[in-house]
Amino acid sequence: MNDNVLIIDFGSQFTQLIARRVREMNVYCEIHPYNNLPDNIENFKAVILSGSPFSAMGNDAPSIDLNLFRKRVPLLGICFGAQYLAHNLGGKIESSEVREYGRAKLNKIFHNSSLFKDINIGSQVWMSHGDTIFQLPENFELIASTEDVENAAFKIKDEETYGIQFHPEVSHSLDGAKLLKNFVIEIAKCEQTWTPDSFVESSITNLKNELGNDIVVLGLSGGVDSTVAAILLHKAIGKNLHCIFVDNGLLRKNEFNEVLESYKHMGLNIVGVDASKEFLSALEGISDPEAKRKAIGKTFIDIFDREAQRIKDVKWLAQGTIYPDVIESVSVKGPSATIKSHHNVGGLPDYMKLKIVEPLRLLFKDEVREVGTALDIDANILNRHPFPGPGLAIRILGDITEDKIKIIQEVDDIYIKHLRESGCYEKIWQAGAILLPINSVGVMGDERTYERVVALRAVSSIDGMTADWVQIPYEILAKISNDIINKVKGVNRVVYDISSKPPSTIEWE
Ligand code: XMP
Repeated sequence: MNDNVLIIDFGSQFTQLIARRVREMNVYCEIHPYNNLPDNIENFKAVILSGSPFSAMGNDAPSIDLNLFRKRVPLLGICFGAQYLAHNLGGKIESSEVREYGRAKLNKIFHNSSLFKDINIGSQVWMSHGDTIFQLPENFELIASTEDVENAAFKIKDEETYGIQFHPEVSHSLDGAKLLKNFVIEIAKCEQTWTPDSFVESSITNLKNELGNDIVVLGLSGGVDSTVAAILLHKAIGKNLHCIFVDNGLLRKNEFNEVLESYKHMGLNIVGVDASKEFLSALEGISDPEAKRKAIGKTFIDIFDREAQRIKDVKWLAQGTIYPDVIESVSVKGPSATIKSHHNVGGLPDYMKLKIVEPLRLLFKDEVREVGTALDIDANILNRHPFPGPGLAIRILGDITEDKIKIIQEVDDIYIKHLRESGCYEKIWQAGAILLPINSVGVMGDERTYERVVALRAVSSIDGMTADWVQIPYEILAKISNDIINKVKGVNRVVYDISSKPPSTIEWE
């Protein structure tokens, strides 16, 4: 992993996208915040400076020592990164009267640098900046302009240092991936060796070395991350990996048994624990969403701990943590307020004193799936929609009872089956049904009914941070609604959620 790219984060909302674009070219990269650079910077073959919500001219502007990199490795400043280079090396920046935001076209390219190789005049780029570089320092060469932004791209003479004021990492910059590739492959000469197969191979070797003959315990959830982590570990240490799969009674219909079976088929050493009664009693009378999460989190830890104690000589706890959870973020406006306490199944009690192993901590979600494919994990598991840890408890608004769980399991099952049969499932990022805490009047046969209302939700998203509601065709919605009302006793009305995130969230609780 010596062909690394170091991405220095100044707090841009797009920093992770830069990393994903670099990884897509099979080059390994790491994101580090500007104020906590890694010790081994000499191992990196190229450096990218991210954008930032700060102004390069501000007193509070983040700063780094450019001499750590300049003339030693190729350096690319993006947006703030470019302005930072210009400002600190003698150029002039000013705040433009209007924020330069949105699509623009390159109208001049000077092909004296490989950065714009195979990129032509007219190429669409995406701008998002308040400041602009008004005058380049003397030893800078202009390499591209747009109609409104003269100094859209530059190179420093006699060194491989570049700056661009647009964002190549966002998909609206149509040749953005090409530009980044020119930088990483043509200019920095990084080798494209970061592939799922090479990751699998090196991880297995590293896990073998790290874990030796030690016993490891891992909690499986049926989700992609824990499954891929389990299979990797299984390949490395075989039966020394002990998996625990807890049925909290809040999973989808039949999910526990089906998933448990498929885990057994994969050869995993696994114990399935039916703890649905314990969860139900821990949730009794609780309606508040955060209180539900806490009760579920605590019960999970108690049960997991109890089960793990049955395994002798456990030394390690394995977790399916992925890269976005690991990246240290640059705090721009102080710690953000908790909207939902998502990572409810986070830590275990200290007294377990286990060492932590996280085989996926270097991977983005899409890479976890690719590694899963390289490990021959069934596509049915890899392509599943995400499902929240607290499960149906946060899709039953208000308090939880066994009857309510049954109703929503049936509704959800019909919904998901229709999505699968109609080919919609793969096009949706996440879908589920919600049981509302109200009854409505209906008529069935000659009888007046006063029964439950359910809501259906389906969203498209990249990572769950933002989401759009999906426009499922009316004919399919009609069939789903009909089927639910006909088949699920106690439900007489179905509504479809047409809210995006933000301002709504994906789950209703
Ligand atoms: P929201 O509702 O915040 O959800 O838009 C974003 C993503 O997170 C999932 N989610 C959770 N996952 N524990 C989890 O493990 C939770 O408490 C939790 N709450 C929401 C949600 O399903 C969506 O994928």
